[in-house]
Amino acid sequence: MEVVILADPAAVGSHTAELVARRAAETPDMVLGIATGSSPLGTYRELARLHAQGDVTFDGVRCFALDEYVGLPERHPASYALVVERELTTPLGLDPANVRTPDGSAADIQQACLDYEHALAASGGVDLQILGIGTNGHIGFNEPTSSLASRTRVKALSQQTRMDNARFFAKGEDVPTHCITQGLGTIMEAREIVLVAQGEAKAAAVAAAIEGPVSSMCPASLLQFHPRTRIVLDEAAASGL
Ligand code: GLP
Repeated sequence: MEVVILADPAAVGSHTAELVARRAAETPDMVLGIATGSSPLGTYRELARLHAQGDVTFDGVRCFALDEYVGLPERHPASYALVVERELTTPLGLDPANVRTPDGSAADIQQACLDYEHALAASGGVDLQILGIGTNGHIGFNEPTSSLASRTRVKALSQQTRMDNARFFAKGEDVPTHCITQGLGTIMEAREIVLVAQGEAKAAAVAAAIEGPVSSMCPASLLQFHPRTRIVLDEAAASGL
């Protein structure tokens, strides 16, 4: 695990964007694992800036999102499908046919989970996975107590996560109760991982992930077993180390 501590969120965004841009230049058809939430937004905006300047192209890049809410109305602005479209597909000029999110409105949700695993495997697997971290140490929506070997599946969201994410919805009760998320076992198969975290609110989760025991109580701690993971933090997120 390589830990990079930078002065502020802007530095986290440019450092991580440069890493992604470098990998896209090395492997133009790379499979990029994408996270939603606010943590990687600085990275995505910096990538959009580099793309607008003509410094990087994502024409052949294939993307798989980590997770999606279950049961939101189609094209709900907080659905991760729409967040991905807004923050990545459009500004980075990705081919929409190359961008996938789990299908949270599928009639057969278990089948949708299996289909997602099959699509990931058929792509050849994730070359670079971008992750955020929840205040409770979750990655994707793998909440504390998630099986360390888990695969893409339906999960109930914890009360804390529903509260953390209420800011994206008009009313607290609009936050879905369930989601589809890649499992911890699925995420660990990525060949390279970069986790970004900013702000004091993430300090305790970051410290548990990096310095605590590997435990399902802090799902991100499993990354200690990953051979090629970089954790990019601003000083506030690193303050518990
Ligand atoms: C969200 C997402 C995760 C994200 C994490 C942190 O709910 N499911 O993929 O990394 O929780 O969110 P944020 O970056 O908004 O703090």
